[in-house]
Amino acid sequence: MNYRFCYVFIKLLIIQSMSVLCVSESFDFFYFVQQWPGSYCDTKHSCCYPTSGKPAADFGIHGLWPNYNDGTYPSYCDSNNPFNESEISDLTNSMKKSWPSLACPSSDGLSFWSHEWEKHGTCSESVLNEHDYFQASLNLKNQVDLLQTLKTAGIEPNGESYSLESIKDAVEKGSGYTPWIECNTDRSGNSQLYQIYLCVDASASNFIECPVFPKGKKCGSQIEFPSF
Ligand SMILES: *[C@@H]1O[C@H](CO)[C@@H](O)[C@H](O)[C@H]1NC(C)=O
Repeated sequence: MNYRFCYVFIKLLIIQSMSVLCVSESFDFFYFVQQWPGSYCDTKHSCCYPTSGKPAADFGIHGLWPNYNDGTYPSYCDSNNPFNESEISDLTNSMKKSWPSLACPSSDGLSFWSHEWEKHGTCSESVLNEHDYFQASLNLKNQVDLLQTLKTAGIEPNGESYSLESIKDAVEKGSGYTPWIECNTDRSGNSQLYQIYLCVDASASNFIECPVFPKGKKCGSQIEFPSF
């Protein structure tokens, strides 16, 4: 028996099985994305309050999105693991507050959460089952109070404009990490503070510096922070 051949052969087998594992499910980090309801609603499309009523004037969760270090991301990773409402029945009261849907027509949030699970959550199911995925998202929201952080820096949702730099600086001071800010435009075409992205490690428990920033819409240097 040629030992050297055997060694190489076993090594090849190991590398092959590792690559199968990696292809089936892998990602490098998460974007944790929160949205300002005032900016979601103040667009041409407008919005619809949830069936339970107008949410609090606070940032709401949009999603926890697995991403690769090269800027691409996986989606819809496991159609055999659809959203199951019963798995998160203990979380839905908190989710109605922290993760409300403002899409039209009015809803209780289930279709929003289902979409987030099936498009993004299934791509991190090797690390987090459905309950853990939503629980981790709620925990992350509680780790950094974005609205309070901005208010402390004198940045209030009052319809005034603030420099993009001052908003980034405030979030960096409050969270310890550099955010990505996404803007949208109001009915008059003004750039406004829409979503704040922070990066999270692959265990979904710790904020990290972003390995890469999204390519999404850029903001003007002065952006509006509308009321809600
Ligand atoms: C949904 O989750 C519940 C609670 O874990 C479980 O009993 C039920 O079988 C699940 N339903 C489906 C369709 O998998």
